[in-house]
Amino acid sequence: MRSKIWRFAAGAALATAIAGCSPAPLSTSAGDPSAQRVQAGEDAVVAGLVSRMSLERKVAQLIQPQINSFTAADMERYRFGSYLNGGNGGPYGDEFAPASEWLRLADEMFLASVKPLEGGEPAIPVMWGTDAVHGHTNVVGATIFPHNIALGATGDADLVRRIGAATAVEIEVTGIDWNFSPTVAVARDDRWGRTYESYSENPELVAELGAALVEGQQGVRGSEDYLGTGRVIATAKHFFGDGGTDNGVDQGEVTGDLNALMAIHAVPYPAAIAAGVETIMASFNSINGRKMHGNRALLTDVLRGQMGFDGLVVGDWNGHGQVAGCTVTDCPQSLLAGLDIYMVPDDWKGLMDTLIAQVRDGTIPEERIDEAVTRVLRVKYRAGLLDPDVQRPSQRGVAGRYDLLASPEHRALAREAVAASQVILRNDGVLPLAEGADILVAGMAADNIGIASGGWTLEWQGMTESNDRLFPNATSIWEGLKEATEARGGSATLSPDGSFTNRPDVAVVVFGERPYAEFAGDRKHLGFSDEEGLRLLRQFNSEGVPTVAVFLSGRPLWVNRELNLANAFVASWLPGSEGAGIADILTGAVSARGKLSFSWPNDCTGAPLNRAEGALFPVGYGLATGEISPMPVLGESCSLLDQAGSSVLFGQGRLADSAFAVALRKTGVPADVAALELFRGSPQGTGIAVRGHDRNAQEDSREIAMAAGSAFAIGSNESDARAYRVVYDVPERPAGRITLSLATSGDRGTPIDITQHMAHAAQKGWREMIVTEACAGTLADRALLFSSEAAFTFRIAEVARVEVAEGTGCSF
Ligand code: BGC
Ligand code: BGC
Repeated sequence: MRSKIWRFAAGAALATAIAGCSPAPLSTSAGDPSAQRVQAGEDAVVAGLVSRMSLERKVAQLIQPQINSFTAADMERYRFGSYLNGGNGGPYGDEFAPASEWLRLADEMFLASVKPLEGGEPAIPVMWGTDAVHGHTNVVGATIFPHNIALGATGDADLVRRIGAATAVEIEVTGIDWNFSPTVAVARDDRWGRTYESYSENPELVAELGAALVEGQQGVRGSEDYLGTGRVIATAKHFFGDGGTDNGVDQGEVTGDLNALMAIHAVPYPAAIAAGVETIMASFNSINGRKMHGNRALLTDVLRGQMGFDGLVVGDWNGHGQVAGCTVTDCPQSLLAGLDIYMVPDDWKGLMDTLIAQVRDGTIPEERIDEAVTRVLRVKYRAGLLDPDVQRPSQRGVAGRYDLLASPEHRALAREAVAASQVILRNDGVLPLAEGADILVAGMAADNIGIASGGWTLEWQGMTESNDRLFPNATSIWEGLKEATEARGGSATLSPDGSFTNRPDVAVVVFGERPYAEFAGDRKHLGFSDEEGLRLLRQFNSEGVPTVAVFLSGRPLWVNRELNLANAFVASWLPGSEGAGIADILTGAVSARGKLSFSWPNDCTGAPLNRAEGALFPVGYGLATGEISPMPVLGESCSLLDQAGSSVLFGQGRLADSAFAVALRKTGVPADVAALELFRGSPQGTGIAVRGHDRNAQEDSREIAMAAGSAFAIGSNESDARAYRVVYDVPERPAGRITLSLATSGDRGTPIDITQHMAHAAQKGWREMIVTEACAGTLADRALLFSSEAAFTFRIAEVARVEVAEGTGCSF
């Protein structure tokens, strides 16, 4: 059994479709063929297919839409070469669909892709790509491995290889062919919202672990099981410089001497290529003013010429549309620069038509199309998709073996990774926890799998909740601690707010960042501003209860205040579904060996140079079990934290740290404002569904679908400016009464009727409303509350507190 090519038994529709082109690959199974013969077979099959394809179908191989924007009928009609599910996409519109639905969709799309074509034109099987960046975490019930930053702290390539293999198995269970992972960014400015996707600020470590994840997923090139059962196609991303943007701005500009930049940010690619990576994703960023999606010198001359990459280059989410002179539906520049597949989630039809016309009018030479299609088909060939006997996804390898999702072996592996990645930053001797101790476990995040998992977990931006339906196969940090403590003859009590009746021997305070992904996680500084943990640590300190701080974060942050208060402080990163790995370290059951792969900042500015010169804890730092560290008192001043936050509460797709957006529970009690976090997901039981919406940039706004009788509020704890400004769009006229009021958590305020304003705004495009005390009553400490009596859809691009002249009226 050499690869998927040989695994499948009876013929499928494809056999007829590509009949006459198949004998060559068969030779690769016989005996021990030379590499040249394999290569010759591959080239002959691929060339034979390309020569018999129509221009339309060749272009379609280069188009990658997302599952929410096309149907099986589109697949049958256009024959896309590949498709993806976005971080917010799920089969048949349900991102929490059971695994069997993912597999059903895979089959449906595959079968549509191989329906025989007229005139003997070959029908090319489609492949499905996903972002299983820390386990197959788009799918409910899969193992959630720690994010890359944590794996970096393990420094353990063999562990990462095993995680790659386990992830590939879980992906194949659901019929998916291709994973957009590993991210091999070398994050150098931790203000970047994707720092946690980076293994390290050290390029060599990123190269080593990235290559290991590639091998784990694909198998070893040339070996028996390469891309065979339980293996998937890997992607090294994002080529290159994603971790090097100025000020850590996602998708931003990288500046500097090219060779110096390559010596940091390009280092992981030759390693990934040597490990056999079949695909590389182009990065959103620009280098010295030029967007990578249009940069021929780098995408072709460097990547193909210097580095010898022979797989395919896939674009990032509409990344081509950011090239100077391009739009999402018109961008020959990218193909000409060396991009092979356009990731064009929604506007695939427009782009496909334009590309076809551009080949016809000579803007794009047909040879370039053929070259790109050849690369796509070569990867498919290697993955066994061009085998005459290829079967539909559910018939391959481990597909449908749902017992392998979060299997005991995979969960044990994740637990091992969690334990190996804990970095003990400080310890006065409280760790390991004494046998028989009575512990109190405090903090909102202690029993919350969503928060412990971070971004790219079920939803693109991650979840802040934890329920058994969404996380059926998981152990929270609290559950792990409880089990371990009781097994050692002690007791454990969960107390999110830190209150207790029986004084504990020690309190474990679990706190940290809330989930985010990509640009929504960009920060202006590294000061950790959420004060929940600080408050708890202070409280326990004043009560004389020793504390262990368990800090969940996607990056090192300035936490000097918390470090000063805690008796032990552990950087736990984003551990995922196996919280028991943390108890393994706190109790000493497993020896601590996690070492920082990022330097830990001593000041809160976040500027990378300052850190390198004066890191509080340098790369490689981490205490062993039982090791006691000196505990000097750290400076606690961070001017950036003292400044009132920006008055933009929501803008460019993200909610400011100092702001909140909540949906109200629909209990029918008018005063019930028990709120659920909004804008990061669609809180259940509120009648409100929120989805990302693209106004000027991807997901820079939100579409809020309100069911009859629902309400949501957005506010800030910091600003006292005199007005609220909301940039909004109303797609359809309201069908019932809509009101606005200024509310507090205990009082809905006095509603003012804005139905007429909303009816007037319908279908007029983006508008601005200004809400002042003139129409709405006092603003101080009050949030803006919208309520609707009928179903209503509202889009919001920005909410801000702004200064207006005294007496300014409201406007809509
Ligand atoms: C998708 C993500 C994607 C993002 C692009 C989201 O809607 O779900 O997969 O990465 O948009 O910014
Ligand atoms: C991200 C990629 C991801 C893609 C598809 C983009 O926004 O940058 O890392 O693979 O979306 O979800």
